[in-house]
Amino acid sequence: MKIDVMVATEEHLRFVTQINDSIDEAAKQRGTGIARRTDEYIADKINSGKAIIAVNRDELVGFCYIESWGHDEFVANSGLIVRPQYRGMGVAKRIKQAAFDLSRKRFPNAKLFGLTTGEAVMRINTALGYEPVTFAMLTDDEEFWKGCKSCVNYDVLQRTNMTKCLCTGMIYDPEKAARKKAEAEAAAAEQNKKKGSWLSRLFGNK
Ligand SMILES: CC(C)(COP(=O)(O)OP(=O)(O)OC[C@H]1O[C@@H](n2cnc3c(N)ncnc32)[C@H](O)[C@@H]1OP(=O)(O)O)[C@@H](O)C(=O)NCCC(=O)NCCS
Repeated sequence: MKIDVMVATEEHLRFVTQINDSIDEAAKQRGTGIARRTDEYIADKINSGKAIIAVNRDELVGFCYIESWGHDEFVANSGLIVRPQYRGMGVAKRIKQAAFDLSRKRFPNAKLFGLTTGEAVMRINTALGYEPVTFAMLTDDEEFWKGCKSCVNYDVLQRTNMTKCLCTGMIYDPEKAARKKAEAEAAAAEQNKKKGSWLSRLFGNK
């Protein structure tokens, strides 16, 4: 088996219906009742270079796409699916990493976010540097939240005035990540400096 993960191109348009069927089936099994995207919508994601696909030679393995919201201030990864026979092999991790890289390349200043009830996605997001946040920190783009309307838990979201639901919101803020990285580098440099002066005191530095 050789699973390749890549940005989807025209040659993958033949998988569109199968991708949609797989997302549908998984949503039914999880009881989330997510609305079926049209084949045109998935095809448009592929044609605009906003989809990641995993294939095993000529067979569909998994998929996910990215979409920007709030005038490109936010980018979400959606429609993540790994076909059942390929689960537990790290494929979702590879797809999400590729979607993360694509999002950072296409929308370098955007905050990346996602909503999920799934432990697997929470784990993957955490490893990528996402943090759990309240819904107030996510996009207020009404078009994005319209996507929740077909979920079986939508009444919860409505009752809480769109402030909370069963999903956990997670966000990757590139500014915060850059700050954290700079702080970690400064702390490491300080540590090295201390180590250097401790060694010179120990062995002398004439
Ligand atoms: C969720 C899904 C995409 C995971 O795909 P996968 O290829 O099996 O995931 P991976 O093998 O890359 O595993 C990623 C991590 O999640 C963990 N994980 C995988 N499946 C899990 C499960 N059912 N429960 C808890 N953790 C799980 C793995 O142990 C791994 O964690 P680690 O990095 O700490 O070891 C797949 O099960 C799926 O398509 N489910 C149906 C659709 C769905 O739920 N989509 C997400 C919508 S938000």
